Amino acid sequence: MSADFIPFNKPYLTGHEVIYMQEAVQRGQISGNGYFTKKCHTFFEEKFSPAKCLLTTSCTDALEMCAILLNIKAGDEVIIPSYTFVSTANAFVLRGATIVFADSMTGHPNLDANTIRSLITPRTKAIVVVHYAGIACDMDLIMSLAKEYNLFVVEDAAQAIDSYYKGRALGTIGHLAAFSFHETKNIISGEGGLLVVNDLQFADRSEILWEKGTNRTAFFKGMVDKYGWVDIGSSFLPSDLIAAFLFAQLEQLEAIQHKRTQIWETYYSQLKHLEDQSHIKLPTIPEYATNNAHMFFLQC
Ligand SMILES: Cc1ncc(COP(=O)(O)O)c(C=O)c1O
Repeated sequence: MSADFIPFNKPYLTGHEVIYMQEAVQRGQISGNGYFTKKCHTFFEEKFSPAKCLLTTSCTDALEMCAILLNIKAGDEVIIPSYTFVSTANAFVLRGATIVFADSMTGHPNLDANTIRSLITPRTKAIVVVHYAGIACDMDLIMSLAKEYNLFVVEDAAQAIDSYYKGRALGTIGHLAAFSFHETKNIISGEGGLLVVNDLQFADRSEILWEKGTNRTAFFKGMVDKYGWVDIGSSFLPSDLIAAFLFAQLEQLEAIQHKRTQIWETYYSQLKHLEDQSHIKLPTIPEYATNNAHMFFLQC
């Protein structure tokens, strides 16, 4: 890339990533669900209590797990925002769903919760919301619509680590949620993701899907005396090397968020004069939302 270009992203490293990866190697188990995977699970389960949390190889994979857990099939309709990344749609298209797109709000890229009601039909099964740039959608409105029509809500929280809606952590409000630790996110592991199961009726099955459709996790917990094939599934769990990298980042979550917020505020103050001259529109944060400084976007 030419030195004239500003990179889209610069990955931030804490310095402990390789040390923990080395430790994972020395511990002698670098496949999935090892020492560092469990440490990451504990970190998230304490933060998102009472949810069940499972590391995945990507947010895309976590979204695919959501589609399987909700038994999405041909003929089902899933409402998603028209402004998002392909994985929000793909995960549900893979199960045969028809995607129904909801438009953005005027003046904000997040989906306009007021348009959802008119998109619901007897075939609608789920609403997938995206907290664009880590800024919350209006979740009270979305959850009450879901309750009224008996729909599931999945939070595509790929960009929303450590961000909040009326004081509640994003990723803990919908029935299920998916986070990304792709290199471009606030907290990274190269590729990586997290499934958050808030509706605990899905907890046991999520472990089975995660381990190739087997009850291997129950076996390692001593709950069954041998494990076998019990359901569909895939290899959704990451190597413990990835988890070791991720854990080094999680330990520094507060410092990373602080640094990003400072950078975000510098962009804001340095670009403000262009907004004052009506050349661009800077981001607005609704009063119910926090800003995790994931992305700095502007409207031209
Ligand atoms: C809204 C959204 N959903 C899903 C994804 C996919 O994440 P991953 O690359 O971890 O699969 C992204 C990645 O940028 C995203 O922004």
